Amino acid sequence: MQILDGKSLSARIESEVPQQTKALKTQSGRVPGLAVILVGHDPASAAYVGMKKKACDRVGFYSVTHEMPEDISQSAIEKTIEMMNDNPNIDGILIQLPLPKQIDTTRLLELVAPHKDVDGFHPYNVGRLSTGLEGFVPCTPLGVMRLLEAYDIDVKGKNCCVVGASNIVGKPMAALLLNAGATVEICHIFTDDLKKHTCSADMIFVGTGVINLIRDDMVKEGCVVVDIGINRAEDGRLVGDVDYPAVSPKCSYITPVPGGVGPMTIAMLLANTLKAAQNNANESK
Ligand code: GUN
Repeated sequence: MQILDGKSLSARIESEVPQQTKALKTQSGRVPGLAVILVGHDPASAAYVGMKKKACDRVGFYSVTHEMPEDISQSAIEKTIEMMNDNPNIDGILIQLPLPKQIDTTRLLELVAPHKDVDGFHPYNVGRLSTGLEGFVPCTPLGVMRLLEAYDIDVKGKNCCVVGASNIVGKPMAALLLNAGATVEICHIFTDDLKKHTCSADMIFVGTGVINLIRDDMVKEGCVVVDIGINRAEDGRLVGDVDYPAVSPKCSYITPVPGGVGPMTIAMLLANTLKAAQNNANESK
């Protein structure tokens, strides 16, 4: 069994960003800029946004976080997005999800200018991904693909079981795998007999938020297991969706939690923001 070490790969990817940032600045006078919208006081969201901001600081990006109260109105957020769409110092816009109940999330995601959509959540970019065209790809599944590539794991022709069908993780993960030539099954909360599906998979990609959803009797010998879950266990530890101690001995490769997919997500946000800045610099030439 080999560990897919997202921590060291993300550090390697991140270490190349400052040099590219400097090159962009020399060529165009521009520094990549990321704007984040954080609504309310969800501790997990605040922690993620804090990590994203710190990563921007480490690599020399400009970043600004718009913190808004839980009871903010739809129109106030929309005004902020419109302002950021028009701000030439902002290359990427990220709305941290989930948002409070009174907010129409889809409307906000559709308002983000597609060329600043570094999360890849705008229907324009979702459509481009599903048709196999170049565009912004959501950071978490993009990070998974980069992790597999780094370990020379080819998904072509493999039976891939994606567990969880969210717009943020499961659906774009399935699209990327399909585009790369995998045979893809997507399981979700209404799937009957999950084990039947996971047992026939060469690779499992699970992101559901359910601790120990994937147990050792659900995984075939030699499987590649990518754990995209992040959960807080009763004792306070961070754990994924996979029963790691029981499952890992059966795997050819497995991602740990923490230190697997999580840091790759942040590295891909930096990569997407740099790409947006490079595109925007070329556009304004
Ligand atoms: N909430 C959970 N994951 C994500 C993510 O990747 N991006 C955003 N914007 N919100 C999230």
